[in-house]
Amino acid sequence: MREGAPSAAGLSVAAVTIGDMSSDLNSDQDDIEHVGVDWDAEAATFDDDPDHGLRDPAVRDAWARRMKEWLPSRRSHILDVGCGTGSLSLLAAEQGHRVTGVDLSPRMAELARAKLAQFAGGDVEILVGDAAAPPVGDRRFDVVLVRHVLWTLPDPKAALRRWCALLRPGGRLVLVEGVWGETSPVGIPVRHLVEMLTPLAARLHTEHLSGDARLWGREVHDERYAMVATFPEPRAAARHTEVVDVHLILRRGDEVLLARRAGTGYGDGLLNGPSGHVEDGEDVRAAMIREAREEIGLDLAPDDLRVALVMQHRGPGGQPRIGWFFEAEYGAGGEPVNREPDKCSGIGWHRLSELPDDMVAYCRAGFEAYRAGQRFVLHWHEDGDAIAYDPGGPVRARVLNEA
Ligand SMILES: C[S@@+](CC[C@H](N)C(=O)[O-])C[C@H]1O[C@@H](n2cnc3c(N)ncnc32)[C@H](O)[C@@H]1O
Repeated sequence: MREGAPSAAGLSVAAVTIGDMSSDLNSDQDDIEHVGVDWDAEAATFDDDPDHGLRDPAVRDAWARRMKEWLPSRRSHILDVGCGTGSLSLLAAEQGHRVTGVDLSPRMAELARAKLAQFAGGDVEILVGDAAAPPVGDRRFDVVLVRHVLWTLPDPKAALRRWCALLRPGGRLVLVEGVWGETSPVGIPVRHLVEMLTPLAARLHTEHLSGDARLWGREVHDERYAMVATFPEPRAAARHTEVVDVHLILRRGDEVLLARRAGTGYGDGLLNGPSGHVEDGEDVRAAMIREAREEIGLDLAPDDLRVALVMQHRGPGGQPRIGWFFEAEYGAGGEPVNREPDKCSGIGWHRLSELPDDMVAYCRAGFEAYRAGQRFVLHWHEDGDAIAYDPGGPVRARVLNEA
């Protein structure tokens, strides 16, 4: 054991090198420290870190958005392992999920219960128990969520196997991990987690989180990431459900209107057509009319819209979606204005035949397909693809029913 290793996220730590994990990974894992922490002692001040307590609305919002991407869109039962003071449990409950939290530290569990008690609509419970063997009997979960815990466990591989066994068919593991510090780093590098999960999971999706300062409340330069591991679902075990989104192709002669995303946590800085999600019980045309009003102030009538194309797309978050692209002519519904400056830094006209590169990749593919007269398109991101269009990258759009 070595005292005085760098503290991860402000924790007082005593660091020991991970032996078990490094032994068969055949890598530089030996440089990574395993950390012994008195979590009961940490509990009182744990929430002082922006990403722990999520007290800053911007930080909280950034995590809420990521959680929405990582968790299923249908109501699910989430097991939050090593839940700490319950910050992510609360976000999951607020998003309509049922939550069971487990933590070894009674003090952490107590604070989590207090935090979740504020959430009157929740279906939540917090248990005291070991992450490596959560005390949940034969209950099974749609999601096992684990943030910043795997790196603290003496046998991470055994814990991962146990968590996989706790999943229902079609369930998923959502892990948020990292390597903190540079001279004596603590944590689990992404490649080691990939090595550990590859034999267990059907599919892995990795999101690098260091570049998103909103998650941490400051700029960070070490390695932070999320990994979503999914498992095959037996056919007929559950109905497939998908989020539906709508996109407006507003034409002005040979130009189209594009909006630049800002402050949304997804594709910020990139252009796309005015767009949004269909709400529960809403038809796609009504959703397009509502989004056009909310985003660019147009007062469109149903007859102003024509379906241009339908695209099934899978984003880097790994969830397939259906996108309906509608066409309308400039002049219908009034003059477009940027009605959501907190989510959009500006709108402007661009030639359809010379679409800019700095667009969300699948949206650009939709506009290109529209220009080519195509009506049904697949756009499937692979793990590691960027959200942004990459002019030199692989073509992910596939036209269906091509003549
Ligand atoms: C860095 S905190 C993360 C807390 C929470 N997941 C979050 O992201 O805010 C690590 C948590 O794991 C818990 N923990 C550590 N070892 C554990 C174990 N063996 N079983 C259950 N919980 C454990 C600690 O008590 C602490 O609450």
